[in-house]
Amino acid sequence: MAARNPFKPTAGATPPLLTGRSAPLAEFEDSINDGPGAPLRLTLFTGARGVGKTVMLTEVSELVAERGWVAIADTASPGLVGRLVGAANAEFEGLEQSRRPRGRLSAVTLPQVLGTGGGGVSRSAADQANSGAAQAVNLRFAFGRLLDSLEARGAGLLVTIDEVHARGRRDLRELAPTFQHLAREGAV
Ligand SMILES: Nc1ncnc2c1ncn2[C@@H]1O[C@H](COP(=O)(O)OP(=O)(O)OP(=O)(O)O)[C@@H](O)[C@H]1O
Ligand SMILES: [Mg+2]
Repeated sequence: MAARNPFKPTAGATPPLLTGRSAPLAEFEDSINDGPGAPLRLTLFTGARGVGKTVMLTEVSELVAERGWVAIADTASPGLVGRLVGAANAEFEGLEQSRRPRGRLSAVTLPQVLGTGGGGVSRSAADQANSGAAQAVNLRFAFGRLLDSLEARGAGLLVTIDEVHARGRRDLRELAPTFQHLAREGAV
């Protein structure tokens, strides 16, 4: 049988051997260690098609997960903010539930005011029609309380967003005020 080819053409798949990435990964790790305000806490991986941007996002997610951080991964596309709200709420609930004594978990549900993804509340048409501004408020709230909960455990949050190059600008622009706000609070 032929030897296994270490280079798979599968887009985004973590290669069996990650070559030439130890320096940027070490830099990223330094910024994680240094705390809020460190330069690579807001990082953009750029490069030609297939150069390994998606793989780097997976690598940094695994790096932070190893130290107990939460990593939320998404791709720039319409509805990004709503999906991030849902993911942050789900992570928050998971953290809170792991802290509660067993046997009391089934009664937990979130108020519908959170919009998407709360405590098994299915999305109504009104939720889906949420304005961008309302979603931004939801995101700020969802990230804020998740960060508070993580901080209490000495952990943090990594958000990775793939495919921001083409039509992702608009989706990113919706995120900018939230990150600005978090940065002002010294959380980024
Ligand atoms: N450092 C690396 N060493 C070896 N193989 C790698 C490395 N980085 C990426 N690859 C491999 O190259 C291929 C393309 O990687 P990836 O999908 O991450 O690129 P990309 O920059 O996200 O591409 P695109 O611009 O199309 O989204 C994958 O098969 C991946 O396993
Ligand atoms: Mg990619």
